[in-house]
Amino acid sequence: GPPEPCALVLFGAGGDLTRRLIVPSLHNLARAGLLPEGFALVGVARAEMDDDGFRHAMREAAQASAAVPDEAAWERLARGMRYLRGDITDPGLYAQLGRQLEEVERAGATGGNRLFYLAVADHLFATVVGRLGAAGLVREAAGGAPWRRVVIEKPFGHDLPSARALDREVLSVLSERQIFRMDHFLGKETVQNIMVLRFANGLFEPIWNRDHIDHVQITVAEAVGVEHRAAFYERTGALRDMVPNHVFQLLALTAMEPPNSFDADAVRTEKAKALDAIRPLTPEDVARNVVRGQYGTGTLQGAAVTAYRGEPGVAGRSGTETFVAMRLMLDNWRWAGVPFYLRTGKRLAARRSEIAVRFRQAPFALFRGTPAERLTSNFLVLHIQPDEGISLQFNAKVPGPQLHIDGVRMDFRYRDWFDAAPSTGYETLLHDVMAGDGTLFQRADTIEAGWRVVQPILDAWRDGGGAPAPYEAGGQGPEAAEELLARDGRRWRPVR
Ligand code: BG6
Repeated sequence: GPPEPCALVLFGAGGDLTRRLIVPSLHNLARAGLLPEGFALVGVARAEMDDDGFRHAMREAAQASAAVPDEAAWERLARGMRYLRGDITDPGLYAQLGRQLEEVERAGATGGNRLFYLAVADHLFATVVGRLGAAGLVREAAGGAPWRRVVIEKPFGHDLPSARALDREVLSVLSERQIFRMDHFLGKETVQNIMVLRFANGLFEPIWNRDHIDHVQITVAEAVGVEHRAAFYERTGALRDMVPNHVFQLLALTAMEPPNSFDADAVRTEKAKALDAIRPLTPEDVARNVVRGQYGTGTLQGAAVTAYRGEPGVAGRSGTETFVAMRLMLDNWRWAGVPFYLRTGKRLAARRSEIAVRFRQAPFALFRGTPAERLTSNFLVLHIQPDEGISLQFNAKVPGPQLHIDGVRMDFRYRDWFDAAPSTGYETLLHDVMAGDGTLFQRADTIEAGWRVVQPILDAWRDGGGAPAPYEAGGQGPEAAEELLARDGRRWRPVR
């Protein structure tokens, strides 16, 4: 059923995230009957607009998105929408917001519960939380009823010290329980399914370890370039943008021990432990085992595309990376000696995110007609997106009087089994915040663990190491990424 009633205050209501994902997701939740009966949305932004203007803009956003239009659902959602115009750095705005919330709470049945969603630029996170605190808007009564929760988007810090500083500021106003740090990859069905695959089946867990697994490849490949986000991306780069958050979430879910329960803290504790097991990188490791790349010109789907340095807003001699690959080792009982190869980049051959688990070769070359190196590797591939599914590669006898062996594949596709309504991937996350379930959100320690792993890379690069190697747009990334695996006698699965 629907979660508890609440008022959702949306900072950044004029922004892209609001239009593309948040409001369409609320619409989808309303349509699915998963929005609480007492629900109000207060949009906060700078533009001059009244409540009706805001409703109208949001309606257009919902229609242009993944939402399945539903008049009745939209009406229910729109009824509780209001707009507050102002500058979120101005303390006066929060006094106004307080009055507005009291009005909403008197009029509607939100039960006094408040959810503040920070869909704003990251340098404003601490300011907004500080102002909310100063205005007394996030104070919870003992026992947490009514509740006050805050959703913080990524990026949470830009390195380990800044992430810690942000945590200190946020935790001086809120308790950990009130904070929901967003990593939208955790809203993806296929990502949530990693734990189900591993822990709801007896089949995989017994072989999910160093005795049977040769290595793991995690790929988050994008075909898009920097798009219109150069201002953000130039100071961020692929490493900060994708690795300590999205890619490490995939790694943690793949590598974690079974939690004692599906309780938010039990799950997050195991994820933090998995990240803590990553062997710290020395400067030599960074030089040898981390690859940094930047896309040049190339061709994608038959069309010529510009180099990163030619994109609007990008410096002509930019040293920002658009690709990163690395080899990490986990020092724990389960994974000792099993490399985890990670890569992510923009302007690669295709949009393809997957976790590929490569099992060990058969121990003995029984079929002498087929030399062991010609046997297909046993890969279990979790296709995160697109073509969501799971496939298993194995060897089979080619029919015929002679013994020939060839690689075959068993495929499970979500769309063949499930008839899922179109979604943005934010529905579950919004639902869970309203329900107070933090399982799919980052805890302070999982964020810090991620930054701790990448900090030596940031340090080495800051000290002049690793100018990004150019790679052709539409390709597989820099040559050095291939060499990273070739050195170990392994190969990436091609991105296509
Ligand atoms: C965001 C990054 O967090 O994730 C973007 O800032 C990236 O650079 C995006 O494109 C990828 O998310 P998705 O859901 O499109 O795979």
